[in-house]
Amino acid sequence: RGKRAFIAGVADDNGYGWAIAKALAAAGAQILVGTWVPALNIFETSLKRGKFDESRRLPDGSLMEIVKVYPLDAVYDSIEDVPEDVKANKRYSGSSNWTVQEVAESVKNDFGSIDILVHSLANGPEVTKPLLETSRKGYLAALSASSYSFISLLKHFLPIINSGGATISLTYIASERIIPGYGGGMSSAKAALESDTRVLAFEVGRKKQVRVNAISAGPLGSRAAKAIGFIEKMIEYSYANAPLQKELLAEEVGNTAAFLVSPLASAVTGSVVYVDNGLNAMGLAM
Ligand code: NAI
Repeated sequence: RGKRAFIAGVADDNGYGWAIAKALAAAGAQILVGTWVPALNIFETSLKRGKFDESRRLPDGSLMEIVKVYPLDAVYDSIEDVPEDVKANKRYSGSSNWTVQEVAESVKNDFGSIDILVHSLANGPEVTKPLLETSRKGYLAALSASSYSFISLLKHFLPIINSGGATISLTYIASERIIPGYGGGMSSAKAALESDTRVLAFEVGRKKQVRVNAISAGPLGSRAAKAIGFIEKMIEYSYANAPLQKELLAEEVGNTAAFLVSPLASAVTGSVVYVDNGLNAMGLAM
C-alpha cells in the first residue's frame, strides 16, 4: 500500500502545508490534514465547492484527494488543557476532538497508523512587535503554537507512526540570523524548533527508527506570512540577492519535503535543510 501522511497546518491552498500535501499525493501517499479549528469551516466549504480544484491538480492530471480533514488546535494537548472561554467559543463548540491527543486517537481509530507526520503551522500573536517589546504572554504563546506544538504532535502520534516513518517541520532563517521585523518571539520559536529537531531525531530514532528533519524555507506570500506585514519586501530581497534569482515556489518546498520523508533520504535525520534559492549562503547582499 502507499504511505499515509498527516499534515498539520493546512487551511487554504496558498501555504507550504498545501504544497507538501500535493507533493506527497503526487508520490502516491494518502493525505490526511489537520486544520486549525477557527479556519475549519471556510476550508471545508471551499474544498466542497470546488474552490481549490485547480490547485488540487497533480502532474498526472488527477486531483489530489484529501481523505479526511481533522479539526486541530495544536496549542492544546488534551481536553483538560482547554479553558472554558475557548470551549464556549462558537467556532470551537461546533466541532469536537480537536486537541492533539484526541486527533491522534481519531486518526488511530480511522486508519490505524501513519508513515509521515508534517508540522506546517506557526502562530505568534505579537509577531509584529520587536522582541524587546514582546510580552511574556506573547512570547510563550509563540513558543507554544510554533515549537511545543511539534513536540506534542510527535509525542501523541509516535505510537501510530510506523517504524521507518519520517517527520518534517518548517522553519525560517530568523532563528539564526537577524531578520528585523520577525518579532514577537517567532525568531526564538524557530530556534527552539530547530534545536528540538536534533534532540527529537535522537529520541525517536533510537526509540522507533523514525526520522525528524526541518526545512528552512525562503519567503512565501502565504496567509500566515502576510500577517507579519513585510513578506513582499522579503520576497523582493530574496529575488534580488539570492544565488538563484527566481521566484521561490511552494512546490519546491513540497518536493524537498517529499524527498526528505522518502526512502531516498533514509540516512538523513536531525537536519535543517535550506530551500531558499540559496539566500542563506550569502554573506554580503549583492
Ligand atoms: P499558512 O498560513 O499556510 O500555514 C500556517 C497554518 O498554521 C495555518 O493553516 C493556520 O491555520 C495554522 N495554525 C495556526 N495556529 C494553529 C494552531 N494553534 N493549531 C493548528 N493550526 C494552527 O502559512 P505558511 O507560511 O505556509 O506556514 C507554514 C509553516 O511554514 C510555518 O511553520 C511557517 O513559520 C513556515 N515558514 C513560512 C515561511 C513563509 O515565508 N511563508 C518561511 C519559512 C517558514
